Formats: sequence, structure tokens, C-alpha cells
Amino acid sequence: LPSCMGSLKHPVPAASLDPAADRAKVGPMTATAEFIRGLPKAELHLHIEGSLEPEQMFEFGRRNRIDLAFGSVEEVRAAYAFSNLQDFLDIYYQGAGVLRTERDFHDLAMAYFRRVTADGCRHVELFFDPQTHTDRGLPFGVAADGLLAGMAEAKATLGVSSSLVLCFLRHLDEDAAFATLRAAEPWLDRIQGVGLDSSEVGHPPSKFARLFSAARERGLKLVAHAGEEGPPAYVWEALDVLRVDRIDHGNRALEDPALVRRLVADGMTLTVCPLSNLKLCVVDDLKAHPLKRMLDLGLKATLNSDDPAYFGGYLGRNWTETAQALNLPRADLVTLAKNSFTGSFLPPVAVAGHLADIDAYVSSNS
Ligand code: HPA
Ligand code: ZN
Repeated sequence: LPSCMGSLKHPVPAASLDPAADRAKVGPMTATAEFIRGLPKAELHLHIEGSLEPEQMFEFGRRNRIDLAFGSVEEVRAAYAFSNLQDFLDIYYQGAGVLRTERDFHDLAMAYFRRVTADGCRHVELFFDPQTHTDRGLPFGVAADGLLAGMAEAKATLGVSSSLVLCFLRHLDEDAAFATLRAAEPWLDRIQGVGLDSSEVGHPPSKFARLFSAARERGLKLVAHAGEEGPPAYVWEALDVLRVDRIDHGNRALEDPALVRRLVADGMTLTVCPLSNLKLCVVDDLKAHPLKRMLDLGLKATLNSDDPAYFGGYLGRNWTETAQALNLPRADLVTLAKNSFTGSFLPPVAVAGHLADIDAYVSSNS
């Protein structure tokens, strides 16, 4: 199958692990890129396994003595031409196979936090996929403890706050998800919420109705991927059956005006991921991305990277490329930044602090 145009026109660029070197390569920043970098913002849709750069794949593979199916970093990058979500997921689960120790997860998280703080990110709610790791024989705590250690170090050394969202793989059955929730029990005081990811079509939210109700009883926040490839009916189910606090993606909600009215009335946050949408052929040109339309309809959209190592950009690049492609006015950029905090699971006092920082930044830069 040929790739969609989005993948052909937007190959994943080679990114070094040094954000400063990366920026130097693209030359001086435009005024908009400079404004965006200084704007306080949060990332609410980031799969930490999707931040595994090809270089790290080889590094972790080497230290864990795992033979990779690829001969070089360039070969890995060349394989990142996807026609749809499943194409990507196949290679993403394969890549995650090099993650074996707490140290791997710690290092993965720290590398991500270094990059995203260079983009002006102040807070992250990061997804991880425990079943991808427990199904390979790793105890639940290897990923959870490694990530929590990285998150604590990032807070201490980079000043970025974060919380952890446990995502269930929707292509597996609800019993497997329940087993994962039981395995997570000792960590639930350090887990903010649960999510639903992996292959969407054929795996509607209603498949996990009992699971999400059990998670809600445990006081966890609830999110679900819906309307990335799946129909508007899946977004309705996420709202009415799972009773989620946020929708991840939500693009296809725009096909249903009654659903749009409902999302607006609820003030429901959508975690939108433009470069992901481009690479997975959800849109075929960034200029055709619905983000601007979402904002104009009154939807509470946010900008996020999803799986930055696979989709050609971390948070900053999602912001700058989308701002440029859609010609977003500053007012929209400020709205997106504010939405990223008011749509977060931070306590109100922390949200208020970030909103005040945004206001101060905007008044000193206008
Ligand atoms: N969609 C569904 N599952 C995922 C994604 C995504 O964009 N990224 C990682 N797992
Ligand atoms: Zn996602």
C-alpha cells in the first residue's frame, strides 16, 4: 500500500538528542516560533513509548543485548512511512521491545522532558502502555517505577511537573485490562488516571464500560482515544458510557453537529495532535487540519505531540508547524495555551498560577 500524501511530503526528520543543536540547525526562529517557545504550555497527549528515538532504540538494544530488526538509525527512520494507525502501531510495539529495565524507562522519560522543556512546556500528563511491557514478561513496576523516577528527577532538575496516565490496549479484551488494573493497585496513589489507546476501529469504548466504571470508583481520572479513525459514535460512547474527563484526538466529532454541540456544552477538552494526524493519514495536509475549525466552533482543543519520535516533532514543532499552516492568530495561540492548563488534571491553584504566567508573558510580549 502506498503511504498517504502526508507521509510522503513529511518524512520524519533526523533529530539529534540535543534540542539546542536541533534549533541551531533550523536557523534563527521566526517571531511566531519565538513567541510560542516562551509561551507557558502543557502537554496532555504524549505516549512516552512514542518518544523513543531511533538512536535510543540502538542504545537500549545494545545495553540490553537485544538484536534489532534494523541495521541503522537511517533504516529505522525510513520505516516510518505509515498509511494508517495500525501501520504505526506495529512498528511502535516492536520498538518498545528494547525497553527492559527501570533505568531504560527513567532515561526515556528524562530525554523526553529535556526536549519538551526546551519547547517551553511546564507540565505533562504522560501516557504509558503497561500491557506492552507486562506481556513481554516485565513486572508492572519496571515501567511504572522507572517513569516515576524520571518524573521526580525532571521536576527537581528541570522544574517541569507531570503525572502518569495508565493506558489500556483496546485491541485486547476487558479481562486483560482488569488484570492490569489489579497489577497497578499498589501504584494507584501515584497514577492520575487511565486511558484507552491502540487500534480504534472495531474496539469501541463500550467494550470497556465495566473497567472504566471500576477505575472511576478508585478515584482515577478517565480519558480515551476516540474519533481518531473511529466514527462519531465512539466519541458519544466515550462521553456517555465511559464518562471520560477528556477526549484524545476527537477529530471525527466534527462530522456530527449534535456531538459538537454536546462537546462545547460540556466544555470537553480535546487533545489534538496535528503531526500525528498528518503521519497517520487522518489529514492529508496540515493546511487542511481541523484545529482552527475546532477553535472557531468553541471546542476546547489543545495541541500535543502523541508519539513525537515517530511523527516528526515534539510539542514545539506541533505548535509552530500548525500555527504556520493554519495561520493561527496570537489570540488562538493564547487560547490553546490556556486550554492546555484548564484541561489538565492539575489542582485549581496550580492552574491559576500557570494562567497568570501566560497573562504576564502575553502582556510583556505584545
Ligand atoms: N492512537 C492510538 N493508540 C496509540 C496512539 C495513537 O495515536 N499512539 C500510541 N498508541
Ligand atoms: Zn495517542
